[in-house]
Amino acid sequence: MGVSAVLLPLYLLSGVTSGLALPARNQSTCDTVDQGYQCFPQTSHLWGQYAPYFSLANESAISPDVPAGCRVTFAQVLSRHGARYPTASKGEKYAALIEKIQADATSFAGKYAFLQSYNYSLGADDLTPFGEKELVNSGIKFYQRYESLAKDIVPFIRASGSSRVVASGQKFIEGFQNTKRKDPRARPGQSSAQINVVISEASTANNTLDPGTCTVFEDSELADDIEANFTATFVPAIRTRLEHDLGVNLTSKEVTYLMDMCSFDTISQDTVDLTLSPFCDLFTHDEWINYNYLKSLDKYYGHGAGNPLGPTQGVGYANELIARLTHTPVHDDTSTNHTLDSNPTTFPLNSTLYADFSHDNGITSILFALGLYNGTTALSSTSAENITATDGYSSAWTVPFAARMYVEMMQCQTAESLVRVLVNDRVVPLHGCKVDALGRCTRDDFVRGLSFARSGGDWGECFA
Ligand SMILES: *[C@@H]1O[C@H](CO)[C@@H](O)[C@H](O)[C@H]1NC(C)=O
Ligand SMILES: *[C@@H]1O[C@H](CO)[C@@H](O)[C@H](O)[C@H]1NC(C)=O
Ligand SMILES: *[C@@H]1O[C@H](CO)[C@@H](O)[C@H](O)[C@H]1NC(C)=O
Ligand SMILES: *[C@@H]1O[C@H](CO)[C@@H](O)[C@H](O)[C@H]1NC(C)=O
Ligand SMILES: *[C@@H]1O[C@H](CO)[C@@H](O)[C@H](O)[C@H]1NC(C)=O
Ligand SMILES: *[C@@H]1O[C@H](CO)[C@@H](O)[C@H](O)[C@H]1NC(C)=O
Ligand SMILES: *[C@@H]1O[C@H](CO)[C@@H](O)[C@H](O)[C@H]1NC(C)=O
Ligand SMILES: *[C@@H]1O[C@H](CO)[C@@H](O)[C@H](O)[C@H]1NC(C)=O
Ligand SMILES: *[C@@H]1O[C@H](CO)[C@@H](O)[C@H](O)[C@H]1NC(C)=O
Ligand SMILES: *[C@@H]1O[C@H](CO)[C@@H](O)[C@H](O)[C@H]1NC(C)=O
Repeated sequence: MGVSAVLLPLYLLSGVTSGLALPARNQSTCDTVDQGYQCFPQTSHLWGQYAPYFSLANESAISPDVPAGCRVTFAQVLSRHGARYPTASKGEKYAALIEKIQADATSFAGKYAFLQSYNYSLGADDLTPFGEKELVNSGIKFYQRYESLAKDIVPFIRASGSSRVVASGQKFIEGFQNTKRKDPRARPGQSSAQINVVISEASTANNTLDPGTCTVFEDSELADDIEANFTATFVPAIRTRLEHDLGVNLTSKEVTYLMDMCSFDTISQDTVDLTLSPFCDLFTHDEWINYNYLKSLDKYYGHGAGNPLGPTQGVGYANELIARLTHTPVHDDTSTNHTLDSNPTTFPLNSTLYADFSHDNGITSILFALGLYNGTTALSSTSAENITATDGYSSAWTVPFAARMYVEMMQCQTAESLVRVLVNDRVVPLHGCKVDALGRCTRDDFVRGLSFARSGGDWGECFA
């Protein structure tokens, strides 16, 4: 620890806030292909969907290893894009807020000193250098985990149409192919993996990775209302402190923007060897716990089971998964594009490795369409629930940057194929089917249990 401490900026060593001296970590040991981002976990794992991917292998009640005596016969990854700069619209708000503080503040003492000269100059919308590396690492990890299949074939790959998602697919391929090139067991003479299909994100497009045509759902403001209520439970105290310390007036929204800046100012650095932004030191550990929960509410009530039509948005993808697992045509009248899914060149049924790239919102709906968090009861909008109380659900645990869900099928001692799902290396025991001690169901029972998806969810209510 002593040696690597010298690499940290002084503000981390000055013992500000809460007495929570963050351990100095050497990036090459706290950010790895296998474990993801384990640096500054007391803060960086509490950024909701703005957290960088971190492996939950150590949090998994069931070992994520492929069980002894089993052979993986099918694997599919659904991945979020890597760390990105703020969206253009958010970036304008963050920049305006910082300018306002610089114009109005009467003091920039201590841990606020950096704010006086902070120039907002982050990019917009695209992957950051760190985000690109996250996806290279994800491709390496996928190859290594599923080497028994990947040495002989390449995955069939789809990406939702935004440039950061497509770029994420390309970086994943880079990691996958570089690992394969070095694998002496890889079958020679194969063509490289490529993005086989890019699905349009136009507002009228049927896109199972990023659905957007369910009108009633798109118009819902439920998550905003819930977030406003929870914000009122913890933000006013922070606001009072910041207003006092800086001598400015802030809104609650502006306080949460300053918290967002902790993540974005960290992950947007021009290096992959990140240091924690000074914005992070303006808040305490308890405040990060509440912020993290606020972000979970956003996803749960925006795209998960908290929204009446949230899980329905993931039904199209669930039906595509059933088609791939059973080698039968897609049956779906929700978000699938029949032109794409009825054509073997754009939706083959004979592959054993698949990779899909998308956004946090679409992935959240898919996790709920598969019933993976059916053990989670409706999240409280008045007090933060811990990860045990939410049965493993939080936005940081499900859809951080470069998040990944693995669906794998395996052949073990019995004739029937078994299916299980890992979310960021945590085995999520299946619901709706007869689940064994390792979180698995037989393929046929799993498909039977996906009756919600097979019957189209509540898509009929999209156009009320
Ligand atoms: C970080 O740790 C790795 C592995 O222990 C070591 O090889 C590397 O030199 C260290 N880097 C720095 C900058 O201390
Ligand atoms: C997780 O557990 C493994 C094996 O015990 C250990 O090597 C690794 O450092 C742990 N990772 C974290 C982030 O605690
Ligand atoms: C911020 O920008 C201003 C004007 O462009 C410049 O004078 C100042 O040095 C910059 N500050 C930092 C910290 O880069
Ligand atoms: C379906 O996909 C085809 C082929 O990419 C495309 O031309 C068409 O616009 C898509 N239709 C919808 C409704 O998304
Ligand atoms: C937010 O809180 C108000 C006041 O307690 C309550 O009336 C309203 O129903 C809450 N909104 C949601 C979406 O829970
Ligand atoms: C902050 O609000 C107070 C009370 O409304 C007002 O008197 C003061 O001028 C405001 N300060 C700034 C910098 O806008
Ligand atoms: C798009 O989805 C709607 C609703 O399921 C469906 O009626 C339409 O045929 C789909 N379009 C294509 C090209 O698949
Ligand atoms: C799947 O079938 C297509 C022809 O429909 C063929 O070109 C491709 O090689 C097959 N892929 C695998 C993995 O068998
Ligand atoms: C999580 O919350 C539950 C219910 O509120 C509580 O019983 C439990 O002690 C908490 N666990 C931890 C690790 O804080
Ligand atoms: C999950 O819960 C929903 C709502 O109760 C239900 O419709 C669905 O069938 C469940 N899914 C699974 C896989 O158990």
